[in-house]
Amino acid sequence: MSEHRINVEVNGRQQHATIEGRLTLGDFLRVNCGYTGVHLGCEHGVCGACTVIVDGKAVRSCLMLAVQADGAKITTVEGLASPDGALHPVQQAMRDEHALQCGFCTPGVVMTLAALTQDGARPSSETLLDAMSGHICRCTGYQGIRRAARKLAGENS
Ligand code: FES
Ligand code: FES
Repeated sequence: MSEHRINVEVNGRQQHATIEGRLTLGDFLRVNCGYTGVHLGCEHGVCGACTVIVDGKAVRSCLMLAVQADGAKITTVEGLASPDGALHPVQQAMRDEHALQCGFCTPGVVMTLAALTQDGARPSSETLLDAMSGHICRCTGYQGIRRAARKLAGENS
């Protein structure tokens, strides 16, 4: 069993840990750091539920080893809202458009949309909807998610 020391920043907090080399980033964030908003569904890169932002890019945390994230800046869904509780624009759009039901897929959807719209970026609705093709939702029929994506692109839903 190989062990590695890693240092990462998660939602603005430094995390130091000694972990097994086989530990996925998703399990590290949930079990070691307590960020249970990282949802693990398929655990092989298909459903998108485990998506987090690593150094500015949306990443499926079930496909990345925690050791690969050493030195990285990571954001999970818990890190999106402002300290005063104000929702991130993606969260607000999802809420406004009733884009969730059970919520299992939601953190992953939100993090992919947040990655694409960070720093004031406003991608086209085609880009955002194309990114949504990598997320499986068993509840909503996708219409609310599509409306939220269009709203973030500046289109009327
Ligand atoms: S749990 Fe990672 S893509 Fe499904
Ligand atoms: S809201 Fe239930 S899986 Fe998407």
